[in-house]
Amino acid sequence: MIWKTLLGLAATLAYIFPALGAPSSGLGLASRSTDKYVFAHFMVGIVENYQLADWKEDMIAAQSIGIDAFALNCASIDSYTPTQLALAYEAAEQVGFKVFISFDFAYWNNGDTAKITAYMQQYAGHPAQMQYRGGAVVSTFVGDSFNWDPVKQGTSHPIYPLPNLQDPAEASTVAAKSANGAFSWLAWPTDGGNSIIPGPMTTVWDDRFFHFLAGKTYMAPVSPWFATHFNSKNWVFICENLPTLRWEQMLSLQPDLVEIISWNDYGESHYIGPYSAHHSDDGSSQWAKDMPHDAWRELYKPYIAAYKSGAKTPTVEEDKLVYWYRPTPKGVVCTGDSLGAPNGISMLSDSIFVATMLTSPATLTVHSGNNAPVKITVPAGIVTSNVSMGVGAQSFTVTRDGKTILSGQGGLDVRDSCTHYNFNVYVGSISE
Ligand SMILES: *[C@@H]1O[C@H](CO)[C@@H](O)[C@H](O)[C@H]1NC(C)=O
Repeated sequence: MIWKTLLGLAATLAYIFPALGAPSSGLGLASRSTDKYVFAHFMVGIVENYQLADWKEDMIAAQSIGIDAFALNCASIDSYTPTQLALAYEAAEQVGFKVFISFDFAYWNNGDTAKITAYMQQYAGHPAQMQYRGGAVVSTFVGDSFNWDPVKQGTSHPIYPLPNLQDPAEASTVAAKSANGAFSWLAWPTDGGNSIIPGPMTTVWDDRFFHFLAGKTYMAPVSPWFATHFNSKNWVFICENLPTLRWEQMLSLQPDLVEIISWNDYGESHYIGPYSAHHSDDGSSQWAKDMPHDAWRELYKPYIAAYKSGAKTPTVEEDKLVYWYRPTPKGVVCTGDSLGAPNGISMLSDSIFVATMLTSPATLTVHSGNNAPVKITVPAGIVTSNVSMGVGAQSFTVTRDGKTILSGQGGLDVRDSCTHYNFNVYVGSISE
């Protein structure tokens, strides 16, 4: 739903970027590690039926990997937004977690100053409100031209707006100057609009944000995947090794803040939260149900800790591996799908991805379906390897000094037939 807006705007955002010098001002911030926070984007629009206990369950899971707050994505049209916001703030207060509102400007508009001010007035001083450098954090999806000055003036508690800028060059606009920094939504390989470009992801957009924000707060996006299959939007971004690559970029760039996209956006397949029992289904169950992503949280945890401490590499404390792969090779034609295959899939590689998390070097063996087993020597630390996808069962073994230290099967067999296209991934882990 949210990408509709971007699609339209992409065509009109025809900025020519000045050639930029070496990256980046971010490097100078590496030592400023005391106030680094990691947030996760939470779609309130699909939790109409959440109870306090559901919120707390999600928050405790997020907290356990080092996430500090949820960015609560709110549409203006949902009648249950006030109720769910109140529950979220209450749950966060109970578990010692933080939250802030992310106004989704696919639904809000520049005329909503009074309503937005009222929400900020209600929550800016709440004990569970995320505060950053003395102000209550507030963010957006799009909404680039919204002026935050009147909201600041109308809210008795200081606020710290970090709106999404679709283009970092907008940082010099009057609206963006009313904010304290910006959030980028460019978490996948894109040309800045919604065009699908080959991977891997680069930091070209982050570098532009650093440049144009010129020292103001940069909240960088981290996302593991993107695949969606609605009739209004039917495409993939080329993610592949993005679950680890993007964090490596964060450790090297050390942006002020990081927001993970997302906790529970099942529709775009980039959730890292559990497939929660009580969310409402917008149709995405077709590709997200029984496709767990929970193991990505295990993978993210050491990266989050490293990012917060200013470390350039994550610390691995026990041997483990996290794998992800799609349910079918990209060329398989699904028999019961009137929508057709998602755009962009020709750029994907039919691979099984394995992030080894090792205390010392070892040998990874992946046996993918009918392919011959592939052995890879992997170093200590977190490294993503990939092997060609074979139809059938997936098995993973790690040996060290002639001893098997990790061994297990993937939770899903790769199949050469399907009813509906599904370019989401099955994510699992194997530990000792
Ligand atoms: C590994 O993945 C990359 C893309 O991320 C791809 O170009 C390459 O062909 C893959 N190799 C195997 C053996 O799957």
